[in-house]
Amino acid sequence: MSTSDGYRVGVVGGDGIGPEVVAEGMKVLDAIGANLDVTPFDLGGSRYLQDGTILPDETIEEWRSLDAIYLGAVGHPDITPGVIERGLLLKMRFDLDLYINLRPFIAPGHDFVVVRENTEGPYVGEGGVLRKGTEFEVATQGSVNTHMGVERCLRYAFELATTRRNHVTMVHKTNVLSFAGDLWARTFEEVAADYPGVETAYNHVDAACIYFVQDPGRYDVVVTDNLFGDILTDLGGAVSGGIGLASSANLNPARTGPSMFEPVHGSAPDIAGTGKANPLAAILSAAMMLEFLGEKEMADRVTKATYEVRDHVEGKSTSDIGDAVAARLA
Ligand code: IPM
Ligand code: MN
Repeated sequence: MSTSDGYRVGVVGGDGIGPEVVAEGMKVLDAIGANLDVTPFDLGGSRYLQDGTILPDETIEEWRSLDAIYLGAVGHPDITPGVIERGLLLKMRFDLDLYINLRPFIAPGHDFVVVRENTEGPYVGEGGVLRKGTEFEVATQGSVNTHMGVERCLRYAFELATTRRNHVTMVHKTNVLSFAGDLWARTFEEVAADYPGVETAYNHVDAACIYFVQDPGRYDVVVTDNLFGDILTDLGGAVSGGIGLASSANLNPARTGPSMFEPVHGSAPDIAGTGKANPLAAILSAAMMLEFLGEKEMADRVTKATYEVRDHVEGKSTSDIGDAVAARLA
C-alpha cells in the first residue's frame, strides 16, 4: 500500500475504538488495491496524557501537503470535555477550512445526505464567562454566521442536489434565531435563484426531528448550520441502522489542502479492546475518501460491499466484519 505516487493519506487512529475501526478501514482499502502512501500520526487523548501534545501548528503545516486524512475517533474519559474536541477535531476543521461536513443516510425507504456547515455557528467559541463560580456568574456563547460561510455551504448543497434528486431542504430555527436565521433564509433564496431546476423546502429544526423519524423519505439534500447539523446527524444515524453505520466527510471543496474522513461515532471507551466495535462507519468513511480522491469506481464497490455486510454483523467481531467486507472485494 505504501508505494510512491500514491495518494498521500495521514492516518489518525486516535482513542478508544478509533484505532480498531481504522485498522479495518485500512484492511478494506488494501483489499481493493487503493494506491496510498500512508503516514500514521499519534494524536488524541492518550497522546495528550503522555506528553501534553494535542495538535501542534507544525503538524497542521505538514498536513497541508497531504491529499486526505483518515481519522478514527478522539476523546478520552480522563480528560475534561472540550480539550481534545476543540484542540484537535475543531482545530483541524477550522485551520484546514473543512467547511462542509457531509453525512449520508441510507436505509430502506430513504436515501438522503446532510450538508452541515462545519466552520461557524456556536462552534467558533465566541463568548465568555464572568464571575465564574459565584452566584453572579454570567456565561454567553454566541453563534457566528458570515454571509461568505453560509453562502458557500448552501452553494455546495445545491450543486450536490444537481447530482442527485434535485431537492434541497434548509433546516434552521428562523422563528426564534432571527438574526442568524434571517441571514440563512435570505442567502438560501439568493443561491436557489441560481438553481431553477432544484426544488427547495424549509423546515424548522424541531419539525425536522419529527420528519427524520416519521418521514425521512421526503429528504434528498438537507443543509443546515453547524450545531443543528451535529444534532440532526446523530438522529439521522439512529434512524438509518444505527451510529455504527454513520460515515462522514469533512471537506475542503476548494482543495486548497486535505479533506478529512471519519465515522460519526466517538471513541466508545467502554467497548475499546473488546472487539465489539462496528467498523462499518469507518469503512464507509474510507469509501467517501476514495470518492473525493477521484476513485469513484472503487468507492462504489466498497460502499456496495459494506451495505451487503450490514445485516450480517450480529455476533461478529470488529475484525471479522472487516474481513467480510474485504472478502467481497477480492
Ligand atoms: C461530531 C462530534 C463532534 C462535533 C464533537 C466530538 C466535537 O460530535 O463530529 O459530530 O460536535 O462536531
Ligand atoms: Mn456529533
